Amino acid sequence: MSGATSLLDAIAGVGTDRRGGYSRHGFDRAEAELREWFTAEATARGLDVHTDRNGNLWAWWGEPGPDAVVTGSHLDSVPGGGAFDGPLGVASALAAVDLLRAEGFTRSRPLAVAVFAEEEGGRFGVPCLGSRLLAGTLDTDTARTLRDTDGVTLAEAVRARGVAPEHLGPDPETLGRIGCFVELHVEQGRGLVDLGRPVGLASSILAHGRWRLSFSGEGNHAGATALADRRDPMLPAASLVLAARRAAASVPGARATVGRLVPTPGGTNVIPSTVDVWLDARASGDGETRHVVAEITEAAREAAEAEGCTVAVREESYTGTVTFDSALRDELAGVLGGAPALATGAGHDAGVLAHHVPTAMLFVRNPTGVSHAPAEHAEADDCEAGAAALARVLAHLAGV
Ligand code: GLV
Ligand code: MN
Ligand code: MN
Ligand code: MN
Repeated sequence: MSGATSLLDAIAGVGTDRRGGYSRHGFDRAEAELREWFTAEATARGLDVHTDRNGNLWAWWGEPGPDAVVTGSHLDSVPGGGAFDGPLGVASALAAVDLLRAEGFTRSRPLAVAVFAEEEGGRFGVPCLGSRLLAGTLDTDTARTLRDTDGVTLAEAVRARGVAPEHLGPDPETLGRIGCFVELHVEQGRGLVDLGRPVGLASSILAHGRWRLSFSGEGNHAGATALADRRDPMLPAASLVLAARRAAASVPGARATVGRLVPTPGGTNVIPSTVDVWLDARASGDGETRHVVAEITEAAREAAEAEGCTVAVREESYTGTVTFDSALRDELAGVLGGAPALATGAGHDAGVLAHHVPTAMLFVRNPTGVSHAPAEHAEADDCEAGAAALARVLAHLAGV
């Protein structure tokens, strides 16, 4: 029997990024190593581990069946991410199984721990890839041809891990087994710190999406090309970055971020021929999010035209506002002695599944409030409180 933190300690050396934090991406070597770790830990607990057609892992306590209570999270990270976003939910699920076994828990419903593939979209660009494919909310042909920065397609990447790319896609059989889903996650803000509480429940997720804006101009010499003769795509890209802050600031609660910008060919003394910019935009509702993105793309188009450049805009993913099942949340708040409800701006597989099955999320206090960065943290006592809360939730939902 191991606590959530000692389980996390065992994988602390996997996928470290020399720039800091962790870089563990869907179907890469580090994530594969974590999947092996999970499979060994789940098997040692007597759970039966299967990989579904989309490369998600399922560890069943007893026979797989309908109306199952499912918990879990993901093992991949953003580039340079923290140790907790994803793995805490997986480790806590295993720790909760230990706690339930120790108290002689008897199941009345099937129970499973799930590990979803490429939740962050850190390799192929589309977040919650495994759960979206499972739920049938991502076009399978488009998914197969997604490429990582080395040009490897998703089809090639899954094949290298023993998943048949021709079988990727909607999985109504697996989805149909989920009676309800509960994901435990490190909080990605300071809500619980401010409330002085170790564990909370999620109420909602902002609408959010990713857009890729590709600016094209003319590659040329940095010294020999007069300013008047340039068509430099970096200029409209810079305008876009500023427009993103402006547009988001004009809508209460909205956020817009440019975290990735790639000039090609990328030389100090070269005017780039193209610049690709990835925009992440989030707001309370669809209308607000679409409004922010429309403002930004309009500003990008104007700036591109002024510089004699062109811009192509592509939506890479989108998730509407998620409101978690309030009856389930109230029920679990009762089980947890009045755990507070918190809204979040972060996306999750639970947000994808919430459109299909009753879904809840438990948050564990994060003293730094930082996430998607190495400073993300949760104290050991809070992690154990989270695992104990998850065990109580699972006992309530799946016990006799
Ligand atoms: C994933 O964690 C996201 O919210 O981007
Ligand atoms: Mn994340
Ligand atoms: Mn996560
Ligand atoms: Mn996420």
